Amino acid sequence: MEIKVVSKDEKTTMEIAKRYARSIKSPCVISLIGDLGAGKTTFSKGFAEGFGVKEIVTSPTFTIMNEYIGEKMPLYHFDMYRLSSKEEAINCGFEEYFDLTKLKGVVLVEWAENVEGLLPTLHIEIKFKKIDDNSREISISVKGWV
Ligand SMILES: Nc1ncnc2c1ncn2[C@@H]1O[C@H](COP(=O)(O)OP(=O)(O)OP(=O)(O)O)[C@@H](O)[C@H]1O
Ligand SMILES: [Mg+2]
Repeated sequence: MEIKVVSKDEKTTMEIAKRYARSIKSPCVISLIGDLGAGKTTFSKGFAEGFGVKEIVTSPTFTIMNEYIGEKMPLYHFDMYRLSSKEEAINCGFEEYFDLTKLKGVVLVEWAENVEGLLPTLHIEIKFKKIDDNSREISISVKGWV
């Protein structure tokens, strides 16, 4: 099943993300898929707010991963844009964040396409599509579940 919503501005995307974060009660992996400027980091910022993160959330483009303290559990925010392969991610020690038997928090992954095959079979996928300057179609689905 896929849930689709259209967000008409940045603020609405933040609000959708905030509410979505509040509905999550246990560790999971969420991939954020979409072109440059589609809204992945904007969503992550709203998500972090709803998750109870007090720190300012910035894009982890250069650090690849930022860790935050959430109200119930940690939030791990990845941006795989600069990673060219799954092997590189494994060398960086990221595999443990994609092992659902060990995971202690929620993992958000921008540019998950760059580490294809590393994410657990069961994960949530959120796709962002630019409709025009200020509108984005946001689709949420669960992968690896029948
Ligand atoms: N409805 C909307 N939702 C989210 N962002 C929007 C919306 N309308 C306009 N924008 C603008 O689109 C841009 C989204 O940038 P953002 O950094 O979130 O994208 P991204 O998907 O993370 O890109 P990148 O792949 O470069 O990391 C921002 O400049 C934001 O102001
Ligand atoms: Mg981004």
